[in-house]
Amino acid sequence: MFCQGVLKGIALDLMQSSGIERHNRKISGTVDYADTYGSDIVVITAGLPRKPGMSRDDLLRTNSAIVTQAAKQAIAHSPEALLIVVTNPLDPMTYLAWQASGLPPERVMGMAGILDSARFQTFIAMELGISPADVRAMVLGSHGDLMVPLPRYSTVNGIPITKLLPSEAIERLTERTRNGGAEIVELLKTGGAYYAPASSTYLMVESILLNQPRLLPVAAYLQGQYGLHDLYIGVPVKLGCGGVEQIFELELTLAEHAELQKSANAVRESLDRALALQ
Ligand code: 2OP
Repeated sequence: MFCQGVLKGIALDLMQSSGIERHNRKISGTVDYADTYGSDIVVITAGLPRKPGMSRDDLLRTNSAIVTQAAKQAIAHSPEALLIVVTNPLDPMTYLAWQASGLPPERVMGMAGILDSARFQTFIAMELGISPADVRAMVLGSHGDLMVPLPRYSTVNGIPITKLLPSEAIERLTERTRNGGAEIVELLKTGGAYYAPASSTYLMVESILLNQPRLLPVAAYLQGQYGLHDLYIGVPVKLGCGGVEQIFELELTLAEHAELQKSANAVRESLDRALALQ
């Protein structure tokens, strides 16, 4: 748990860049949930990060209690807020936060698909030697080893990457995407990625706060979509001021659907373990 001084110091440091960054936002650090009263959006990052060799699921026991408490206390002070979960293991943590918050499911979502898709986008751009700005990538499923990068729905200015890259390269890039978080944990040794997850979370916050309807991969609550029920998992959604305003069901091949089902089964297993801890 961060102490008050560290939080106040980081907030003051960020504030001191406001003239250069040209914004008038008030940034404050606190350990008192009452200070977060009336928030429009609550982002939960509380919990332990991975250490080298750990899977995100290894954080389940510790982070379940932390996320449940954070969601309960934050929403108690901001009952109108929307909730974005970042803590791992992302998909079951988002479900626990939803249950603890008592909010309708569309107002609780997990940040993961944007991060995983951004990694896939970056790796595709690096492989082709082009700007990531020209690449659009799509990743479904869990934020874990069984995530489902979708080459058929990943393009470079409308050209499917399956027309631009050999299958060997596509397989290598999808594998690197699945391993994207662990690769950074192995390099850092003392924690996980920060910057790409923060940028991905910002995209969600901006879409909601400014009501910029966006089609983005987000961990959303499924009630039959893709044949999945009562589960949070990464799917393409329309994000806006109401949170998850629509869920898009992509047409999947049998193989893609089987991968998504396998991913969902792993999330279900992890969620059942988390619920058993409640
Ligand atoms: C990642 O994939 C922290 O889960 C996050 O880097």
